[in-house]
Amino acid sequence: MLLSLPDVLLDSEVASIQALLKKAQWVDGRTTAGIQAATVKNNQQLAEQDQLLAQIRRIVLQALHRDPLFFSAVLPDKILPPFVNRYSGETNHYGLHVDNAMRSMPDGSARVRADVSATLFLNDPDEYDGGELVVQDVFGEQRVKLKAGSIVIYPSSSVHSVTPVTRGERLASFMFIQSMVRDVSHRRMLFDMDMALVKLRQQYGETSEVVQLTGIYHNLLRQWAL
Ligand code: NI
Repeated sequence: MLLSLPDVLLDSEVASIQALLKKAQWVDGRTTAGIQAATVKNNQQLAEQDQLLAQIRRIVLQALHRDPLFFSAVLPDKILPPFVNRYSGETNHYGLHVDNAMRSMPDGSARVRADVSATLFLNDPDEYDGGELVVQDVFGEQRVKLKAGSIVIYPSSSVHSVTPVTRGERLASFMFIQSMVRDVSHRRMLFDMDMALVKLRQQYGETSEVVQLTGIYHNLLRQWAL
């Protein structure tokens, strides 16, 4: 499931990150790509040991942890610390690729299986031309370009690319998440059920049927969570 979630970051957080990125020292983006992906990747990133990256990671992770929609859609178990990238000038695109299935935490403490990939847009779409995230989904090709502070999540198993930026610069944070629920169709059913339950609760309150269905949601999560 490909899903866009608006305003994951507050405007003040977007402003803080943009201010930090004015001082950024960008390095070659191929350092974090797998062997296949590196052959088609042509962008820039913040280096792993960069203090700016550490500050941005704190802001982004804090925002993700407080967002109930993100939690419901992703059911995160482990989030690999987000990266930050830039597409502009000569380093302006990322060809068709798939994300590596397995990653390691930067300190080597754990392996993270990428179930869900996410791109958090850090500047507005009117600041650049091109730079669309193109994801091949079961429903066909989806092209995504969101306002600053909004995030798109999609299965890490999908083939995707970023089209060339032909004007301005595109700034984004991207990340890989191991979900408690490995199967994308199970995640989808849980998300749809949770959203329906939210609406039922608003319309009818905590009726005994709502309580019973909530119990079924949690029992399914118990059964499917690894
Ligand atoms: Ni990718």
